[in-house]
Amino acid sequence: QDIPSLKDVLAPDFTVGAAVGRPQLLGVHADLLKKHFGSITPGNALKWDATEPTEGAFTFTDADPIVDFATANGIKVRGHTLVWHDQTPAWVFRDADGNTMTPTPANKALLLSRLENHIRAVMGRYQGRMYAWDVVNEVLDESQSDGLRHSMWYQITGTDYIADAFRTAHAVDPGAELCLNDYNTTVPARRQTLYTLVGTLKAQGVPIDCVGHQMHGNLQWPSASDTAATIEQFAQLGVDQQITEMDVSVYTDNTSSYTTIPDAALTQQAAEYKALFDVYRSHRADISAVTLWGLADDDSWLDSFPVNRLDAPLLFDRQLQAKAAYWSIVGQSPTS
Ligand code: G3I
Repeated sequence: QDIPSLKDVLAPDFTVGAAVGRPQLLGVHADLLKKHFGSITPGNALKWDATEPTEGAFTFTDADPIVDFATANGIKVRGHTLVWHDQTPAWVFRDADGNTMTPTPANKALLLSRLENHIRAVMGRYQGRMYAWDVVNEVLDESQSDGLRHSMWYQITGTDYIADAFRTAHAVDPGAELCLNDYNTTVPARRQTLYTLVGTLKAQGVPIDCVGHQMHGNLQWPSASDTAATIEQFAQLGVDQQITEMDVSVYTDNTSSYTTIPDAALTQQAAEYKALFDVYRSHRADISAVTLWGLADDDSWLDSFPVNRLDAPLLFDRQLQAKAAYWSIVGQSPTS
């Protein structure tokens, strides 16, 4: 398909990226990736369960090929993610006796030392090769009175794990942009908690450079106005912002299911993509990168979340053809 390169179209505004795994490094997928994307995020390969499944035994069998592909093709890499509550092996939260940790000073010290060792090993391996890292992922929970996720990290260390992770990350790779990444950041309660948290951390001298807005959305959510207001609020903190995991589900509830996606849904999806990209582009001074959470509709986490169903949340379809959503961003009519 002789169509405009997305990364060339968006170059005046920001870097555009896609989350990938090893299947996307081959054949026609690799061709599409190289043509349109200036950045890649390993979708799973750098997570704790992939890189340190047992203590001190580091494996990079999935991550190395992705980073090497990027290097060979002049593509930038975002690291994702060093500290998270999900996809983290159970051993991380076991005490010296092998039991689940309880909040004691000894366990706090043990957990933070594991965190520091992990960051030194994983970040250290790619030192100088990542332009950004999601150092800490998904710390918010609006159902808690303090707005923070009461993960094991939080239960054992309070919020110290966040500051510790950023300080360690900065020491390992001072040139990498360090991000705190979260979802649904346009929701007022979550947005406000994150704003206060990042402001407090920065006031304490914690080296946090960037807020990552995941931007998993759907045909009618989030709105352009909430998205613009969110970006403008975080700009006041003097941090960079990145859109880190964007996709637009064709469903607006948790139960519907299509066997064929209606054209009307794809048209509405294109309008949502255009509305949000218009916001990103008009805030280009505050946003350095926009990453889609996948290369094409043939590989998306939304086919199994929140239930197993056919979704089509990205810019290219299952045959890797450009969708209406792509054309809405490029600002042209489809060429045949
Ligand atoms: O690796 C195993 C494989 O050995 C096994 O055969 C297979 C069977 O199901 O599962 C494989 O693990 C899966 C893994 O992806 C790798 O494909 C897990 O079951 C599956 O749960 C996991 O899902 C990932 C999810 O994070 C985990 O929560 C998605 O691919 C990934 O796209 C998704 O990404 C997250 C971001 O990291 C953070 N923000 C939200 C986003 C979407 O959930």
